[in-house]
Amino acid sequence: MQESLIDRIDKGRLPRHIAIIMDGNGRWAEEKGQDRLYGHFHGVESVRNIVEGSAELGLEYLTLYAFSTENWDRPQQEVEGLMSLLVETIRKEVPTLNKNNIRLHVIGDTNMLPKFAQDELAEALEMTSHNTGLNLIMALSYSSRWELVNAVRNIGMDVKAGKIDPASINQDTLQQYLTTSKFPDPELMIRTSGEYRISNFLLYQLAYAELYFTNTRWPDFRKDNLYEAIIDFQGRERRFGKTGQQIQEETQLA
Ligand code: IPE
Ligand code: IPE
Ligand code: MG
Repeated sequence: MQESLIDRIDKGRLPRHIAIIMDGNGRWAEEKGQDRLYGHFHGVESVRNIVEGSAELGLEYLTLYAFSTENWDRPQQEVEGLMSLLVETIRKEVPTLNKNNIRLHVIGDTNMLPKFAQDELAEALEMTSHNTGLNLIMALSYSSRWELVNAVRNIGMDVKAGKIDPASINQDTLQQYLTTSKFPDPELMIRTSGEYRISNFLLYQLAYAELYFTNTRWPDFRKDNLYEAIIDFQGRERRFGKTGQQIQEETQLA
């Protein structure tokens, strides 16, 4: 009998945090002669499947890039459709999140979201806040440059207010001012749909992430595709600037 993909994953060496750029909804739909929103609609099914798969694996953090700061510049009809889909999905999914002990978090400039979406989100955050399993982080109206500028501005204000000494600013300080301050950096970043770029996603946090690209369009991405990415990740040697020999020695000692 052929070993299933999930059995090939070493559960003791899971990445703590996986971040995904869910790309290709529009092309998936266009290839089927459908409207781009049809693709986004089907993309939600992949979100459900991957969130469920991540919780089953016992992953600690999953960040999903759902809407970028730059995506506001898309045609108004698409943006409005995405916002409605977002609200509707959140409303429907909260009971499932609670059932699976999943806590929802949001990163991004949520003030840009329409009021009805902000309210729905706030409620979902509150209703899942007691959960202790998977942390599901939705990046909404998020971009890394927005986040970094924001962090620098806030640090500047705290320096001015005398709360921090500029000479003491280090990597930990900056980390605390990012929207991801409570989360470890992603160890694996997956992008679907064959684009080999980061598109303003977690530029600082991905410094040492392993990058995994697949041609699969997001609406076709399922648990098995996630398992494949994790297996690929587990086959890599993460060196963090050191030599391969040093890493091998450290692994032997551990
Ligand atoms: C990703 O799919 C979803 C969002 C950016 C909201 P796209 O809508 O970017 O799909 P493509 O890249 O045009 O195929
Ligand atoms: C990145 O995808 C943003 C999300 C998946 C939410 P885009 O489709 O917007 O990125 P580009 O435009 O191809 O770089
Ligand atoms: Mg795209």
